[in-house]
Amino acid sequence: MVEVPGNPDQPELRSEEAVLQRHGDWFGLLKVGKKKQADARDVIEHAYANSQGMMHRIDVESLVAAALHCQPKRVFEIGTFKGASSDMLLRLLPDAHVTSIAFASENPTKRQYNNDQLRISEVGALVGPEHRGRFTQLIGDSHKIDPEAFVQEHGRMDLVFIDGDHSREGVRQDTELAHAILAPGGAIAWHDANPKRRYIGSRQFLEDDMAELALATTDDFQGGVAFWTEKLERQLRKTAA
Ligand SMILES: C[S@@+](CC[C@H](N)C(=O)[O-])C[C@H]1O[C@@H](n2cnc3c(N)ncnc32)[C@H](O)[C@@H]1O
Repeated sequence: MVEVPGNPDQPELRSEEAVLQRHGDWFGLLKVGKKKQADARDVIEHAYANSQGMMHRIDVESLVAAALHCQPKRVFEIGTFKGASSDMLLRLLPDAHVTSIAFASENPTKRQYNNDQLRISEVGALVGPEHRGRFTQLIGDSHKIDPEAFVQEHGRMDLVFIDGDHSREGVRQDTELAHAILAPGGAIAWHDANPKRRYIGSRQFLEDDMAELALATTDDFQGGVAFWTEKLERQLRKTAA
């Protein structure tokens, strides 16, 4: 085990065999050209303002680089909250359909999952009206999704973004679901590769449990994004060898 420098809110210890490969320049690594990057500037600023502190600027930029890299047509997001990241993906990818699920507690005094306090009418409310035709809001528990039924109804997904239940077991289940509903060559992204203490389960899953090798942002700030495709994993393993 080694000390994690930089962020005082990070846990002090993590596994030396961490399977995440951390990089600072995702636009460069994922070969997203300067023009596409410049064109995405307004989307980044809008999403960063919308996220109201839920995402670090680096998270927003990294997700944008990942989405521009894989150009998904069908996106599934686990964890809508007010819809900042859904709206961002819809603005960035004019041909994409985004389906997003959020858990809303029927009993607001009894919380079951993180960030499940919104009324159903507030969930996804930030998704712009001009994008609503390409957006499907689901309310429910991602852990109860039957992958076969999901694929039958929504098709296979080119990108699954996991930002729901941040417990270690919850992220494991959501990752398993993501693999089961992914289209060939599809991508998975996770928020909170270096989260606040209370969301540490997501980092523990990504670093200690996950068999795949994923790309991640640097861990000197709070938040962090991880990103995986089969092809990227092969590339990362080659450069690590
Ligand atoms: C951190 S917020 C997501 C933030 C959002 N992605 C954004 O960028 O604005 C977490 C969301 O995950 C949802 N959530 C937590 N556990 C869930 C579960 N088991 N199934 C579905 N949604 C879940 C919560 O309802 C909440 O909407």
